[in-house]
Amino acid sequence: MADARPFHWEFTPPAVPREIFRVEGGRPLHGRLAVSGSKNAALKLLAAATLTGERCRLTNVPEIEDVRVMAETLRDLGVVVDHPEANVYEIASGDVDWLFVPLEAAARMRASFILLGPLLARFGRVIISNPGGDRIGRRPVNLHVEAMRALGAQIDYRNGYYFARAPGRLRGGEVVFPTVTVMGTENAILAATLAEGTTHIRPAAQEPEVDDLIAFLRKMGADIERAAPDTIVVRGQRRLRGAEHRVLPDRIEAGTFVVAAAITGGEVTLEGAPCEHLGAFLGVLAEVGVAVACGRDTIEVRGAPPGSGAYRAVDIATDAYPGLATDLQPPTCVLLSQASGTSRVHETIFEDRLEWLAELARMGAAVEMADPHHAAIHGPARLHGADVEIGDLRAGASLILAALAAEGTTTIHGAHHVRRGYENIERKFQELGARVTRLPEPGTAEGMAPPTS
Ligand code: UD1
Repeated sequence: MADARPFHWEFTPPAVPREIFRVEGGRPLHGRLAVSGSKNAALKLLAAATLTGERCRLTNVPEIEDVRVMAETLRDLGVVVDHPEANVYEIASGDVDWLFVPLEAAARMRASFILLGPLLARFGRVIISNPGGDRIGRRPVNLHVEAMRALGAQIDYRNGYYFARAPGRLRGGEVVFPTVTVMGTENAILAATLAEGTTHIRPAAQEPEVDDLIAFLRKMGADIERAAPDTIVVRGQRRLRGAEHRVLPDRIEAGTFVVAAAITGGEVTLEGAPCEHLGAFLGVLAEVGVAVACGRDTIEVRGAPPGSGAYRAVDIATDAYPGLATDLQPPTCVLLSQASGTSRVHETIFEDRLEWLAELARMGAAVEMADPHHAAIHGPARLHGADVEIGDLRAGASLILAALAAEGTTTIHGAHHVRRGYENIERKFQELGARVTRLPEPGTAEGMAPPTS
């Protein structure tokens, strides 16, 4: 592996308009809300559609920035991506002639790396930017690269790019991960569908979004099964065909709105809600004392008023599915700020995922950080309005939650991060009676700032 300094050393990520959320707290949320399609599933399904030259149709695709970036990245490759109506994408990858995923795509969205597996499997080569790169070393892609090598790919790393080739065809093989990885598992599955022979992947991620990808690939003619919960077997095919698929509901969005009702003393019914994918999270809610009822595809939540002390402190630890999702850690922390006693939080997946608690503390939460993976939250806190800054998508949505439960007005800077993964979040909150508005960042004449990755 070459060790040269990347030629994107001076690279500045593409600018996006800087925005704020303004939230007036203290209003209980009431009403019904339809859950959108899953971001983390939709991005992989769009990538999977490049495995065939035939037309694929995806419905219930969330209208979010990350999907737009993936669609644009595919179009730059020469893929035809139509968006005939809201939440519907049609993809035709007949003439892909530009097998290059540039840093511009990777810097805007780390999930662009999911294109490695399908492009390599179908076209035998791809040059793809390292999304971890030198700017954000905490999100490596080494496991994706090793998985491709286990399937016979030759991959060199030069100047910030992976140059991947599969002379002839990828070969089925044993993909053994040292740790569970969601996108690593998905990249291995995508590559193996067109490899010669059989591939075993273990430990394979068990997230519902991985199963949604498998369901779509099966419709495309792929031969994939879970031999055990953590082993996936893929028998490679010569070619796949076009297919249609409805993206599964977003369990993280659902969890976010469950907490919104719980902490404002509201009553909300979520429609099209994936109760069966929220087991560990609902277990925490039950321990905390939130009244939640699951229907066939609904979740009803009845909350306690902020600061009432009706909720109990609990200790939580994030984990790979079926454990508590790291993406639901921030909303759960907001809930725990309203629970009586001390809750301990152990973030096991990512080392920077607790940093946002400093912003929650500015709103009056009593937070103690032990180290980057451990925090204690003492409650119940009377949250108050403040000026806070969003660092990433999930933390951003959770600061809105805290602001809804707070007294007074909160200004949340960096609102554009939330658009990456939540479809029209302010409108959804407004429909439930919240006072949330998204505005251009005052004082930024050009209104531009770099996005996160
Ligand atoms: C996916 C989700 C993200 C979620 C995460 C964990 C998408 C687009 N994103 O991210 O929302 O928070 O799962 O549920 O689906 N790792 C390595 N080397 C690698 C890959 C991962 O060391 O090559 C490490 C990561 O740093 C992390 C752990 O493995 O500590 C798990 O990460 P992973 O499951 O791969 O997360 P993503 O698939 O990137």
